[in-house]
Parts: sequence; structure tokens; C-alpha cells
Amino acid sequence: MAHPTLFYLLTLFTTFIIFFFSSANSDPRITQAAIICGNKTALDRPAFTRNFLSALDSLTQQIANQRYATVVQGSNPSTVYAFGQCMNDLSQTDCQLCFSECKTEIYKCVPFQKGTTRGRTFLDGCYLRYDTYDFFHEILDSEDKVVCNGSRFNGSERSFVRNSLGLMKNLSAGATGGDGFKVGFVERENTSVYGLVQCWKPLNMSSCGRCLDSGVVSLSTCLPLVEGRVLNSGCYLRYSTRPFYNVNTSSVASTKGHRRFPVILAIVSCSCAVFMLLVLGFIKGKNKLEKRRREQKQLGQLAATVNKSKLNFKYEMLEEATDYFDNSNKLGQGGNGSVYKGILPNGQVVAIKRLFFNTRQWVDEFFNEVNLISDVQHKNLVKLLGCSITGPESLLVYEYVPNKSLDNFLFDNGNSPKLSWNTRCEIIVGVAEGLAYLHEESKLRIIHRDIKLSNILLDENFNAKIADFGLARCFPQDKTHISTGIAGTLGYMAPEYIIRGKLTEKADVYSFGVLIVEILSGRRVNSYSQTTGPVLQVVWDLYRSCRLYEAVDPSLEGGYSREDVSRVLQIGLLCTQASAELRPSMALVVQMLKDTNCNIPLPTQPPFINTGLLDQDIPSTQSGSSGNSRTVSFIGPR
Ligand SMILES: *[C@@H]1O[C@H](CO)[C@@H](O)[C@H](O)[C@H]1NC(C)=O
Ligand SMILES: *[C@@H]1O[C@H](CO)[C@@H](O)[C@H](O)[C@H]1NC(C)=O
Ligand SMILES: *[C@@H]1O[C@H](CO)[C@@H](O)[C@H](O)[C@H]1NC(C)=O
Ligand SMILES: *[C@@H]1O[C@H](CO)[C@@H](O)[C@H](O)[C@H]1NC(C)=O
Ligand SMILES: *[C@@H]1O[C@H](CO)[C@@H](O)[C@H](O)[C@H]1NC(C)=O
Ligand SMILES: *[C@@H]1O[C@H](CO)[C@@H](O)[C@H](O)[C@H]1NC(C)=O
Ligand SMILES: *[C@@H]1O[C@H](CO)[C@@H](O)[C@H](O)[C@H]1NC(C)=O
Repeated sequence: MAHPTLFYLLTLFTTFIIFFFSSANSDPRITQAAIICGNKTALDRPAFTRNFLSALDSLTQQIANQRYATVVQGSNPSTVYAFGQCMNDLSQTDCQLCFSECKTEIYKCVPFQKGTTRGRTFLDGCYLRYDTYDFFHEILDSEDKVVCNGSRFNGSERSFVRNSLGLMKNLSAGATGGDGFKVGFVERENTSVYGLVQCWKPLNMSSCGRCLDSGVVSLSTCLPLVEGRVLNSGCYLRYSTRPFYNVNTSSVASTKGHRRFPVILAIVSCSCAVFMLLVLGFIKGKNKLEKRRREQKQLGQLAATVNKSKLNFKYEMLEEATDYFDNSNKLGQGGNGSVYKGILPNGQVVAIKRLFFNTRQWVDEFFNEVNLISDVQHKNLVKLLGCSITGPESLLVYEYVPNKSLDNFLFDNGNSPKLSWNTRCEIIVGVAEGLAYLHEESKLRIIHRDIKLSNILLDENFNAKIADFGLARCFPQDKTHISTGIAGTLGYMAPEYIIRGKLTEKADVYSFGVLIVEILSGRRVNSYSQTTGPVLQVVWDLYRSCRLYEAVDPSLEGGYSREDVSRVLQIGLLCTQASAELRPSMALVVQMLKDTNCNIPLPTQPPFINTGLLDQDIPSTQSGSSGNSRTVSFIGPR
């Protein structure tokens, strides 16, 4: 080992690098300022809900390209108007992350039985609203909110109030004279205040001015508390004694090329070196810095552990392996990061995931998690090879799976070979075995949380491999947890998870059931056809009329028997039952799939959450409406 002081310096250096980049890097500011749901219910809930879902879809697409979007979907009386926008200081990536969270939140306004006609989510980084009328140019609304938070300012309240109000007025003036956005701070008279004002894009500057003026007045009711936010129809204002907005370091943080990076590194290391010397001299007599030093020491130990561990990959090596994260090597974009193909110096091909999250507190815990997950091995799970956590961003290294994900094969019309019946069945069994292993056999008992077609990869022999497991464990389940994957995949979410946030293995079982239906029917869970209705409902209706085999993907030309189709689909329906208790465990599912003589219980109705059937309650008892079919068989508990 090197000289202790040198090691200490290195540790400090690493800390600063990580700290520097994490602060400059990514903060989608997903703290929820408020969610405001209306209390009216749509007249035609099925139609309204459909319009709502497709409006959100097109919003999402547009926000990925520009930073705001307006959408009008459907016709009277079920028209949905929707609007979304990110604060101007968010990077494009953060914007998308924030918006995903926004979507997750706004679903709370449209749960099972509510179907309310209006909803607004204000996160600190972005905004989303839907309603039944054209509100795009609206400035104020009776339900606008002021959210005050924190304790009273500790110091001269008079100068605090004066400075805060002065700052917000100045920012408002600046925004109105510019593009409707302004951040800034004031530091004087022993007070420091930071502020942000943002008008929504459709407003012209005179409307923006009126909105912000009214906002500043509302905001004054929060003073002298240390933090306040105004959530108006047309704008958002916030002040705080803590800095919260992104200074424009995006050019630094998001440098993709390899040219700039060494320069920045050099600058950072020089300034760090100077700073470190100062700090070192300072530390000796100062108890205040004790705590920080302990942290750094811990990180030092961690760095040492990491360096020794076989799981550790050097950041520079991975950077080169992916040709500096060149776009041509990009394999895809997941909920918590983008994935690149890389070739290691020894020739091994790997998939490298670049995580959006990279905070100092997180790194320690993260490494432990990687350590644990890397022990989880199964033929149907994508193997985690290691990670790189001491570089400017956190990377995960996975085994590379050559074929694409399952959705490419099922829906990529023409370009990929169609999957045969046998292959589909083998994939289903493989996924089931992988999940059963995660749930019951692995030491960790991992709930995947995000089972969907795009998370099932296929190797060259079309063996299914589940990607992205275990990582969700790293993200705490509080508000800082970004459930981007979840936001994009409403159709896969178990009702108890959506409504009560209750997460058990049975949530995975539900998603798996949806997966079966998608694989066998060749239709996406979120697809809706005017003539036949949503997929889960179609399958359920066919089941009730004993014609389950008709749900099979028409592009499958034979190779299966009606019994087989019905059997596997019935297992799918068992998994998607509204009641989590009734859903079988994955181990039982595997058994049922493999043993064709096994007796398959009769399923009860699925919840149909994202479909037009919101007017039907969750079936606590069965609705015995269609009397001509053999519905008798599934009434009552088994
Ligand atoms: C719905 O909300 C409006 C505005 O907040 C209120 O005036 C009205 O009384 C509410 N109606 C019901 C049925 O709660
Ligand atoms: C940051 O600065 C760069 C160049 O100085 C500019 O092009 C970019 O738009 C700025 N980003 C934001 C969010 O202000
Ligand atoms: C309110 O303040 C508390 C502590 O000051 C903080 O933990 C919490 O995140 C704040 N809430 C919001 C919405 O900012
Ligand atoms: C308020 O400030 C005083 C000194 O300025 C300090 O001693 C005290 O701990 C502070 N209180 C809080 C709650 O921060
Ligand atoms: C607001 O702007 C005026 C004029 O530019 C300036 O004198 C004043 O100090 C500013 N106040 C704050 C709190 O920034
Ligand atoms: C700022 O704090 C210093 C020392 O804490 C004090 O002497 C000074 O009067 C304060 N200034 C104001 C404007 O409160
Ligand atoms: C700004 O928009 C408002 C509402 O849409 C409109 O009444 C007003 O005439 C517009 N002002 C200008 C200067 O375009």
C-alpha cells in the first residue's frame, strides 16, 4: 500500500470528484410540491380514460424532444386537454426523469373508481396537468396552492423578509422580460435566499407577469419560513434558504466527448489539490470537520474494498470499451440509465449501464448491493459482472445478451423472425423459473418490480433472461425513489401496488400474468381496439365463453393445440387476478406450466385497471351479468 498520507489525499480526491460531479450532474428534482385532483367524475369514464392514457403517451413523446407539450385528445364530451413542462434549468435527461415521476403521481387522480376529470402534479422540476377544457392560457384558478415549509428563519426576520420579497420581485421582472424563467439568489445582511420563477410556455409575457405578480403576493404569506412555493395555474415560484436549482454546469456535467473530459479533470484535480491542502491544514484544530473526515475515511475504506474486489471495473476502461459512450454503441434506455455495448480489452463483450443516480451517500450502499446481486445467478437472469463507482458516474457491467428484448420479436413487424409456439412457451417457462428463483430460492428474495417485455432479453438460443433485477432495492422507497420504469408501464402494475403502494412478490406475479397474455396473444397490454376492447378484457371474456384459444396470436400458424393455448392463458389469468392472495406463487406457476396433468384452478376476474372498464368495481363478488356463459364455475372462493 502507498504512503498513508498519499492514500489519504487520493481518498479526498476521489471524494471531491464524486461530490463535484454529483452536484453538477443530475438532479431531476422530483420532490412533490403538491398533487391536486379534481372531485368530478367523467361522464363517460371508459372513453375519458382512454383519451387520458393516449394524451399522456403523446405528451411523453413530445417532452422527450422538447421540454414542454400540449395535447388535445378525443372529442366531446370526453376530450382530454393535457399539458406538461419541465423547469428551464433541468437537463433534458432530468426533464424526462422528472416527467416520468409526474406521470406516476398523476395516476393517483385516475385510480380504479375515481376517474376524475382534472388533475395537476407539481414536482419541483416539472409540472403536469390534465383537464376537460382548454386551460393552456389560464393564469389563476380557485384551486391554486401556496405550500409553505420548514421552520422560521433563524436570524433577522425583517431583513430576511425584505430580501426574499425583493429577490422574487426581481426574478419575476427578469422572467417577464425574458423567456418566462429566472433563477437567482441574494446574499446580504446575514441572509441568503435562492429563488426560481417559471411561467408555463403557452402564456404570453403579459399573462406571465400577472401570474408571477400574484404569485409573489401569495408567497409573502409563507415568510418568514425558510421555504415557500406557489403553485398557480400559469406559473410556479419557489424560494428557499438552501440552493436548489441547477446552475448552468450542464455543459460540464453532460460532456459526452472524450476531449473535454481530461481538461475538466485536470482543472478539477488542480483546484482540488489546492483545496485539499487548505482543508488539511484546517482540519487539525477544527472539531467541526470531524464528521466529514469520518465520512471520507469510510469512503476511503470503501474505495479500498472496491479496488480489491473482482467486481471492480476501472471507469476509464469502460469508457474506452464503449468508445466513450458513443451513440452507435447505445443498446437502449431504461428507467434508471442508458445501456451501451462495450468490448473489454480481453475481448469480452459486455453491456454497460450508465446510471442516472450518482450521489455520494448512495455509493456505499450501492456497492454492497452490487456485491449481493452479483451472487444471484440463474440461467434465466442476466448476470451482473461488476461495477465502477469511483469514477465520475456509476456504471454497471452486465453479461451481454446478443438478441434483442422480447418486445422487438413480438411487435417489430417484419424485421425479426416470428417466434414459434414452442419458443414462446419456453420463454414463458424460462421467465417463470427466473422469477421463482428471485422470489424464493435466492438468498435475497428479490422482488423485480418491473417485469415487462422490454426487460426480457433473449440469447442466441432464444433462452429468456430477465434484466434489471435487484437494482430497485438500491433506491429507497421514499419520495426520492424514481419509479420511471413503473410510470411507463402502468399496464403491468398490480392494482394493490398502484393504489396502496403495497409491494409483495404477488406484484411480480401479476406482471408475469400480463406478460403471458401479451406473448400468446401478440398484443400489447396497453393496446386497445375499438372492436374488441383491451387485451386483458378480451381474454377474460373469451375465457368466460370457453373460447380462450381464440385469443392466440393470429400470426402463429399452427404448431399448437387448443388445449395448450387455453391452459397457458388460464395460468396467465390466474396470475392477473385482482386479489393478490388468490394469485399463485411463482413456484406453483412453474409447476403448472411444466406439468400438463396439473390441475389449474379457475381464475377470478382481473382488475382491468388501465382500460375502459373503470365503471366496474373491483370484483369483490363476481358480476354474473352474462348468464349464458358458464360463469357458475368461478363464483365464490375455491
Ligand atoms: C368539489 O370541489 C369544489 C371546489 O373545490 C367544491 O366547491 C365542491 O363543493 C366540491 N364538490 C364535492 C362534491 O366535493
Ligand atoms: C447552459 O449554457 C450553454 C452555453 O453557455 C447554453 O447553450 C445552454 O442553453 C445553457 N443551459 C441552460 C439550461 O441554461
Ligand atoms: C419540508 O421541510 C422538511 C424539513 O425542513 C423537508 O424534509 C421536506 O422535504 C420539505 N418538504 C418539501 C415539500 O420541500
Ligand atoms: C439559531 O442561531 C443561533 C446563533 O445564530 C444558534 O445558536 C442556534 O443554534 C440556531 N438555531 C437553530 C434552530 O438553528
Ligand atoms: C432588485 O433589483 C434592484 C435593481 O436592480 C436592486 O437594487 C436590488 O438590490 C435587487 N434586490 C434583490 C433582493 O436582489
Ligand atoms: C450579521 O452578523 C454579524 C455577526 O454575527 C453582526 O455583527 C451583524 O450586525 C449582522 N448584520 C445584520 C444586518 O444583521
Ligand atoms: C396574452 O394572452 C392573453 C390571454 O390569452 C390575451 O388576453 C392577451 O391579449 C395577450 N396579450 C398579448 C400582448 O398578446
